[in-house]
Amino acid sequence: MDMRIALIPGDGIGPDIVREGVKVIDRAAELFGHSISYTEVDAGGISIDRHGVPLTDENLEKAKAADAVLLGAVGGPKWDSMPGDRRPEKGLLGLRSGMGLFCNLRPARIYPELSSASPLKDEVISRGVDLVVFRELTGGIYFGRKGREGDGAYDVMSYSKPEIARIARKAFEAARIRRKRVTLVDKANVLETSRLWRETVKEIASQYEDVELDFMYVDNASMQLVRDPSHFDVLLTENMFGDILSDEASMVTGSIGMLPSASLREDSFGMYEPIHGSAPDIAGKDLANPIATILSCAMMFRYSFSLESEARCIEDAVSKALADGVRTVDIAAGGSYIGTAACGDEIIRRMAR
Ligand code: IPM
Ligand code: MG
Repeated sequence: MDMRIALIPGDGIGPDIVREGVKVIDRAAELFGHSISYTEVDAGGISIDRHGVPLTDENLEKAKAADAVLLGAVGGPKWDSMPGDRRPEKGLLGLRSGMGLFCNLRPARIYPELSSASPLKDEVISRGVDLVVFRELTGGIYFGRKGREGDGAYDVMSYSKPEIARIARKAFEAARIRRKRVTLVDKANVLETSRLWRETVKEIASQYEDVELDFMYVDNASMQLVRDPSHFDVLLTENMFGDILSDEASMVTGSIGMLPSASLREDSFGMYEPIHGSAPDIAGKDLANPIATILSCAMMFRYSFSLESEARCIEDAVSKALADGVRTVDIAAGGSYIGTAACGDEIIRRMAR
């Protein structure tokens, strides 16, 4: 298969980890006989430095022209004083909305070898953590009208029924091949948008009678995630609740450096990125954990190219490396560790057909 991949290394540790992702993609292509071409795209702080804005139309078009996009991270203190519409994060939001990536998947699961890294007690963790957050990504308060008025400011949260229905369907489809439970997280006791989410999701649920649907207010969900994360299978929610809860879910597993994500639309196109940030303090120091990015590459093979064996090959290599004691500093628990590039090499060595 021929694949065109756009690489957006971005800022901070972005280039360090995307480099390891590329090594893994190249190895998979070699093992399974695919041909890959890459184009590089600027977004975030680096784009501000080079072009004066966090994302140019030309770079957006370059990303759109690919079959899939691999992104590192954007942002850093250097650009913290930029006005809101010119911050690096605006580049990421521009990519998401410009490419119509409404469905953000953030799986969180515990690797047995790393269970001691979770801040939760063993008796909580031993019930198992294997959940996926389905976060709506191109609507809600992130993209509503915002502004200043007198001495006030506002950000509008609005949703339409079709916007809710399309991600709800994705969540139910996923639950069907998982443990068959969808938990809709909202604030329906206060927010009108949440009430629309409930109505719409109930309607969709009637087409998936094999899947159990439950509802949880977001404040309660944030508590249940640490009290009993095993309750959750597919956690469906709007944009900002999903942002917050996916960070919390990642901490439940013990390392934010391990969790991948996929941002999808109806066709096979997708953008893949680790859920962690740009960690400017360790940028270029060969300290970052490349595993979240490498697992994001596995998701790319699965969702954009429908190549399940390639995805599994990468995921198995990561599991083997962890079982063999391969650790970067963030997951070393005070023990010995290796650098970003060496970690990538250890994973590549364990990739096999
Ligand atoms: C994320 C990040 C982004 C978000 C920021 C960088 C704009 O926190 O992907 O979770 O809020 O969506
Ligand atoms: Mg976030």
